[in-house]
Amino acid sequence: MIVCSCNGISDKDINAAIDWMRAADPQTIITPGKVYHALGKAADCGSCMPLFLHMMRANANLEVPMELRGLRPRTYKGKSNEGR
Ligand code: FES
Repeated sequence: MIVCSCNGISDKDINAAIDWMRAADPQTIITPGKVYHALGKAADCGSCMPLFLHMMRANANLEVPMELRGLRPRTYKGKSNEGR
């Protein structure tokens, strides 16, 4: 099924890119931008993004590595933000 009509990216292309990235680096965070880059493309209109993300989330290799889970947010001396 074609997911991105601007670039002709199919669900199989997305799954292949995610599987390849996970095999190449088990600790990488996989983003839509990285998937586009791995396929040698760039997002154009962006209207495919909801379906693109849905297809990405359906891939079991998209998981965040265990080492990066449960990281605590940075606190700034009791404040919830940097105060900018
Ligand atoms: S349909 Fe994917 S960028 Fe336009």
